[in-house]
This record gives sequence, structure tokens and C-alpha cells, in this order.
Amino acid sequence: MDNLKDKILIRQAIKEDLPAINGILNYATMNTNYNLNTKPRSEHDALKWYEEHIRDGYPVVIAELRGQVIGWASLSRFREYTGYNTTAEISVYVSVNHRHKGVGTTLLTTLITMARGKYHCLVAVVTDNNWASLALHTRCGFIANTTFREIGYKNNTFIDITFMTKLLDD
Ligand SMILES: CC(C)(COP(=O)(O)OP(=O)(O)OC[C@H]1O[C@@H](n2cnc3c(N)ncnc32)[C@H](O)[C@@H]1OP(=O)(O)O)[C@@H](O)C(=O)NCCC(=O)NCCS
Repeated sequence: MDNLKDKILIRQAIKEDLPAINGILNYATMNTNYNLNTKPRSEHDALKWYEEHIRDGYPVVIAELRGQVIGWASLSRFREYTGYNTTAEISVYVSVNHRHKGVGTTLLTTLITMARGKYHCLVAVVTDNNWASLALHTRCGFIANTTFREIGYKNNTFIDITFMTKLLDD
């Protein structure tokens, strides 16, 4: 298997990356139950999401291969209550043609490094049939805590969701 780890550039996302970021997200939305969006995210909502991340200091990073965005990852506010401010939720997406080549691992380890010193806990919210994501997060030190049975609903199916966490100060 061709590992892309040494061929990709990881950098902070800029506004011009948003169409590619959104394309990768929307492909997963429309073709899987791995996120619980049921409609593609509009360009307008993608810009709002990006600007809120910049304003609140939550990172969005991309993986670039020969000038093309092939994956992205972000930290986001976990919940609004301020008692959760030491926790951030992690998202990671790789384009379907570049999976299983180390890109997700590189994005995730980059964000974990960026999160150290700023957050105490990272959370990944993973659908229970998403073996690649469960394996990726486990490989990066996340622990599957609890599976919430049938908490989600998409494509006429109730979906189990596993919360995985990684404590950064251990
Ligand atoms: C989950 C995802 C980000 C993984 O990214 P990736 O670049 O394929 O991950 P890596 O190549 O770094 O692989 C990391 C580990 O994940 C596991 N993995 C990745 N793809 C896999 C697959 N198709 N089948 C089984 N395990 C897989 C492996 O354990 C792998 O480690 P290994 O290469 O030592 O076997 C990617 O599959 C993806 O974008 N999926 C759709 C979006 C999504 O589900 N995002 C997560 C939402 S919680």
C-alpha cells in the first residue's frame, strides 16, 4: 500500500480551501451514515463554520497532495456550557481516493499536538459501524467509553454512536 505520509503537506486551512473541504464532507454525508447530516452543507454554511472556528481559535487543518486538498481535520466546541471549555470535539475526513494511506493518522496526530496545553480532553463521536474511524482513533490513543444505542437516525435506520475520548494531560 502506498503511504502518503511523507508526500503530503499539512497546513492551516484558508478560505480558498473551503470548496474542497466541503466536497469531502458532503461526499461522506451523502454516501454514508458516518456523520448524521442528512443534507449537503451549503457553501454559505461552510463559510460560517470556518469563520466561527477562526474567531473562537479552533483549528482547521488540511492535507495537501500536489496542490490538491485530500483531507481535513478540525477541533470544535464540544458543548456550549462553559464547563466544557477544556474539551474539544475532533473531526477528520479523508477523500475517498486517498484513504488507508496514513493521511487520517497524520491529520489526527497534528491536531493532537496542537491541542496539547490548550485542552484537557478530546472527544470523537463515531458511528458504531465506522470501523476505519474507530481503528484510527484507537490507534491515536482514544478510548471508546460509551455506546449510545440508537441515538441517531439517518437513511431509515437508527444509529448507535460511540463516544471516544483522549485525555491530553495524562
Ligand atoms: C476515518 C478516516 C478519516 C480514516 O482516514 P485514513 O486516511 O483512511 O486513515 P489511515 O490511513 O491513517 O489509517 C489509520 C488506521 O485506520 C484503520 N483503517 C483505515 N482505513 C481502513 C479501512 N478501510 N478498513 C479498516 N481499517 C481501516 C486502520 O487501522 C489504519 O491503520 P493501519 O493502516 O495501520 O492498518 C477515513 O476513512 C474517512 O475519511 N472516513 C469517512 C469520514 C469519517 O468517517 N470520518 C470520521 C468521522 S468520526
